[in-house]
Amino acid sequence: MGKILVTGGAGFIGSNFVHYLLENTDHSVVVLDKMTYAANEMSLAGLPADRFELVKGDIADTDIVDPLVKAADAVVHYAAESHNDNSLNDPTPFIHTNLIGTFTLLEAVRRHKTRYHHISTDEVFGDLELDDPAKFTETTPYNPSSPYSSTKAGSDLLVRAWVRSFGIEATISNCSNNYGPYQHIEKFIPRQITNILAGIQPKLYGEGLNVRDWIHASDHSSAVHTILEKGKIGETYLIGADGEVNNITVLRSILRLMGQSEDAFEHVVDRPGHDLRYAIDGSRLRAELGWEPQFTNFEAGLKDTIAWYTDNRAWWEPLKAEVEAKYAKAGQ
Ligand code: NAD
Ligand code: DAU
Repeated sequence: MGKILVTGGAGFIGSNFVHYLLENTDHSVVVLDKMTYAANEMSLAGLPADRFELVKGDIADTDIVDPLVKAADAVVHYAAESHNDNSLNDPTPFIHTNLIGTFTLLEAVRRHKTRYHHISTDEVFGDLELDDPAKFTETTPYNPSSPYSSTKAGSDLLVRAWVRSFGIEATISNCSNNYGPYQHIEKFIPRQITNILAGIQPKLYGEGLNVRDWIHASDHSSAVHTILEKGKIGETYLIGADGEVNNITVLRSILRLMGQSEDAFEHVVDRPGHDLRYAIDGSRLRAELGWEPQFTNFEAGLKDTIAWYTDNRAWWEPLKAEVEAKYAKAGQ
């Protein structure tokens, strides 16, 4: 039993991890979150008050970070600016949070010798050709494309340097595209589900041939928990569930599962520098640490996710107009 500091725990994947920890372990959880536009306090409603606390603050603020890291048995660092399209409009907060914020945490971890797990993305590796038989592995060279992915790549490199130079007890994981409950509606899958629920035509960037490797957020949580408990210090683990699908196929599945014509969407302006394909070879995590995903049927996971957004309109409806107005400005 220990105290886990979860940064960014009011966001999508962080809140899924907090629920996972409280339901599946005896740990207590402190969330440190700046409560940016991407956070939602409703995602943390109803958690046990004796095992859960939310602290509002910036991970780049040493005065807030230091005592929380000192008091924790482990830090799991999810907090980030996470959306590629936003990073193309204004990279500034990405530099602040993803680089300076991670640096601030690492320095506190170094001072207090606290166990640290760093959450990262497969986007640090750049993209693959559609017909390339290769997938990303732990030894794929870094080659990020966007301001978002380059700041995540930079944060991973900071962690590696702090392990080697200062001997901090850290592990890193790079995961593929997550889906599931509590995901902000700026992202592809919830944007399309909530478009259909709100009577707006779904929007596909370009031809929709770009491939993403989908994993349910619950499987990401169990993988991170496995690494936290059993991972080898200093190592990187890739997390994926063999979920490669192109965007047009995902969109058509959503439309079909929601009782719409599979052609009831519009093509919109493509993302500049749009990565073509991500694909994770997750065999190391499975072979060395014995982790297995539970959500292996993507359509079933999508169906659950559609049901969640249908049943939780109060969670997303207040955000919808602003998100769509922002996209409309970019022709998306
Ligand atoms: P999100 O945008 O939904 O949530 C990010 C959270 O971080 C928000 O609650 C926000 O308020 C908080 N935050 C932002 N800046 C902060 C700061 N300066 N101080 C404290 N809190 C701050 O993001 P997400 O999709 O849940 O992603 C979480 C992590 O997982 C990120 O590190 C991301 O790079 C990584 N990741 C995401 C995916 C994905 O598919 N979404 C896949 C792999 C890895
Ligand atoms: O691979 C992991 C990454 O996955 C994470 O590191 C990021 O934090 C997370 O946001 C996600 O990045 P993507 O850019 O892949 O996700 P997004 O949901 O923005 O887009 C998924 C795909 O769908 C991408 O090819 C762009 C496309 N798209 C997106 C939107 C919002 C559309 O076709 N239409 C849309 O309206």
